[in-house]
Amino acid sequence: MNNQFTQSTRLAERATRVIPGGVNSGRRQIDPPLVVRWARGAHMEDADGNRMIDYWGGAGSAVLGHSNPTVNERVESAIKNGVLIGTALTPGEIELAERVVDYVPSIEQVLLCTSGTQATYFAIRLSRAVTGREKLVKMQGSYHGYHDSVLRNVHSTPDRVYARDPHSAGMLPAAVDNTLICRYNDLHSARSMFEAHVGEIAALIIEPLVHNGPTLVPDPGYLEGLRAICDDHGALLIFDEVVTGFRHGMGGYQEIANIRPDLTTGGKAFASGWPIAFLGGARWLMERFNTSPGGDVGWSGTCNGNTGCVAAALATLDLLSDGTVHTHITRLGERMRTGLHEIVEEAGIPATVTGYGSIFTLWFAEGPINNYEQVLRNDSVLFKSYRQELRQRGVWEKPDMHGARSCVSACHTDHDIDLTLTAARDSLKAALSRIAASRKRKHQGVLDV
Ligand SMILES: Cc1ncc(COP(=O)(O)O)c(C=O)c1O
Repeated sequence: MNNQFTQSTRLAERATRVIPGGVNSGRRQIDPPLVVRWARGAHMEDADGNRMIDYWGGAGSAVLGHSNPTVNERVESAIKNGVLIGTALTPGEIELAERVVDYVPSIEQVLLCTSGTQATYFAIRLSRAVTGREKLVKMQGSYHGYHDSVLRNVHSTPDRVYARDPHSAGMLPAAVDNTLICRYNDLHSARSMFEAHVGEIAALIIEPLVHNGPTLVPDPGYLEGLRAICDDHGALLIFDEVVTGFRHGMGGYQEIANIRPDLTTGGKAFASGWPIAFLGGARWLMERFNTSPGGDVGWSGTCNGNTGCVAAALATLDLLSDGTVHTHITRLGERMRTGLHEIVEEAGIPATVTGYGSIFTLWFAEGPINNYEQVLRNDSVLFKSYRQELRQRGVWEKPDMHGARSCVSACHTDHDIDLTLTAARDSLKAALSRIAASRKRKHQGVLDV
């Protein structure tokens, strides 16, 4: 308790002189500041020597835990023979493609790139080329990377939900306007959008199970319904499995739901956090890329297929493929959700424990949480305060509503779950009394400092 953050604060101040905002990706700023010295297994240590059980896990990439020794050894051995050959092909790239094709039901061919954003970008470009159409459908609140076609209506405030809501300055207006926004878990919303734009929509992109924020689980029949709507309208269905892929099983969420999208993107857990991602789909679609003779859809990238990332992916798939890790992390995920549920019942506050498999989130709103409007009901003050209290007790869950998912890894143990649930109970009490005290002071006209 009462961990000090003086070194983190000092380093973060130094960083802001040379790095805008002091971090290398939006939404990484932490209050109070955090500088991480190391992350191994299920733990990390900050610059002040505070140890924490980490549930952010590199945005879910660290499915095997941080810095898995087998993955590291395989990378080390691979790069001795060249890091980025960048011409023609290496044997590892063939093996990796064969493995992805074997595991993911809808994929007949696959191409590698280096980020989830690139994968969704190429998926959309391909769908426009194949259909000769320009428009794209995405869901309110979904995140598929930072390129212009998908970066609208991501973290919309209540007044901007379903309105024209670009997430960044500098986005090309035409790209923003060509993306149409629907409600997740609402087939009527998708159907009426397609009916209002007959012959104009190239693709619908969706995280089949939403993990940006609290988990949104698809209602029975929802994904089947989207499949049918896309078929009826000659549009492609893109499953963005950058978070779900290989975390929930080897075949992605599409295998669990038994739905076959036309295109699938993957990344994150695919290679334990090494920068590699993929786009896969049916042969007739994938052969449109100019990696095939006569292909007319551009695909390139200097670092695609580099030996270190390919080795990391192969090693990760080796370690995941027998299902032991998935069984372990799902069991611990369930323990965590059950334990958190008991804690909020005891506290008697409006809260919902969301999640799936190894992912969990405690959301401070009455359930159900099935779409973005319901996500917005979260008590953001309590949410932030609770997660700050967790940090004080050696548990790291990112205190950001939009980066809210917490992930169990192969290295977490039952003991970690026990410690976390104790910390959760205490943190919730502390956060509630801190907020009550602050409200009382405000009521009495005393300014909070
Ligand atoms: C569902 C989803 N798609 C795509 C992306 C973009 O991936 P990357 O950050 O590797 O570009 C993310 C990143 O969080 C994601 O969660």
